Amino acid sequence: MKARKKVVTAADVRLAKATGQSKPAKAKRTPTVRTIKSAIVPVDRSARSFSGRPRVETGSAAVADLGAPLAARPTLVEREALDRIDLSIELAPQRGLRLPNPIMVASGTFGYGVEYGEVVDVQRLGAICCKGTTLRPRAGNPPPRVTETPGGMLNSIGLQNPGVDAVIEKYGPVWQGWKVPVIVNVAGESIEDYVEVARRLDGVPGVAGIELNISCPNVGKGGLQFAIDRDAARAVTAAVRRATDLPLLVKLSPNVADVRPIAKAIEEAGADAITAINTLSGLAVSADRTRAFLGNTYGGLSGPAIKPVALRIVYEVAQVVSIPIVGIGGVTSLADVLDFMACGAVAVQVGTAIFADPELPVRLGDELRAECLRRGLSSCAPLVGTALPKRTGAPSAKGAEYRP
Ligand SMILES: Cc1cc2nc3c(=O)[nH]c(=O)nc-3n(C[C@H](O)[C@H](O)[C@H](O)COP(=O)(O)O)c2cc1C
Repeated sequence: MKARKKVVTAADVRLAKATGQSKPAKAKRTPTVRTIKSAIVPVDRSARSFSGRPRVETGSAAVADLGAPLAARPTLVEREALDRIDLSIELAPQRGLRLPNPIMVASGTFGYGVEYGEVVDVQRLGAICCKGTTLRPRAGNPPPRVTETPGGMLNSIGLQNPGVDAVIEKYGPVWQGWKVPVIVNVAGESIEDYVEVARRLDGVPGVAGIELNISCPNVGKGGLQFAIDRDAARAVTAAVRRATDLPLLVKLSPNVADVRPIAKAIEEAGADAITAINTLSGLAVSADRTRAFLGNTYGGLSGPAIKPVALRIVYEVAQVVSIPIVGIGGVTSLADVLDFMACGAVAVQVGTAIFADPELPVRLGDELRAECLRRGLSSCAPLVGTALPKRTGAPSAKGAEYRP
């Protein structure tokens, strides 16, 4: 049979750039962006719209129909009412990290922001979390590095990045001119690595904050991830806290039995906010079933398939910490944003869905604003935590309740 020629689309190029591959692979490339897209089309949530009545789609706005839906082009009066809604979020009140709106883009899925300049109005995002940045340049993992899964994807990029000095030199001056806050995602193999990267970022114009990716093997602890060990998570957070006054977010891994003690330790160690969650550890098998598919064997699962796990973790963490929580995992629609907020997140990050629809995060900001207007809210604060147990000490605050 004649082999079919693969066409490399602009979306393929974006995926390659954002995931740190020098160019889109032509041969044996798995998956295509088109196939990922099919896996992450927004779920029809009409059965459980906010008011219980059917959801109506109007222009770009997914309308949870409390009151009349807004037209695709709001009238002048509606426009003025929309502008009066304050979507801003304080992520680190003592350190002055204020986001213009709660829709951020997740690390590793939006490059350094500049790559998307021609397709997305990046200044309208709540914040950009740039690609994971390490002390020294990293080449990343051997290919293949990504593959499609039902409802998402597996990636094993392996933190490919040019190193903190190159990031500061190349992107700092660009970010400085932006009004959108840029938060640098930091990774390392030892506490000293994290501290040194934080020190170098401290005071760099254009860097609004740091997000610690602690899902990295700790060489000092024989490869055990910082994120799965309460004491290691506490130690790395405290050390970075001492090294910088930058707003500090710490990102939780879902790959633990109970994330709550880890979240508490991170709060006690001085983090300004918690982001949850990173990818779930997963595996794919080669077509001939003779080996693991990914060059690195294991990969991180992301996309809509992980949203229930992410919601559960946000829900649990919100009951044990008082610092702000940013929810991440499978966001593809306004309904997802509202779900995360209801479980206690003050903001969300959009990741995998960007590969299929780069404009989604900006659109979600508009849709959230319209949603507040429809509900007669002047901010989105009343949307936060509505699904949390009303009584303190409810069973869900104590331990793992679900026993299969
Ligand atoms: C290709 C890819 C690269 C990623 N790189 C990073 C990274 O460098 N640092 C990090 O903290 N998270 C990284 N993540 C995890 C995302 O930031 C996010 O936590 C995760 O994908 C879940 O969100 P989603 O389901 O919306 O994609 C990466 C995810 C993907 C898909």
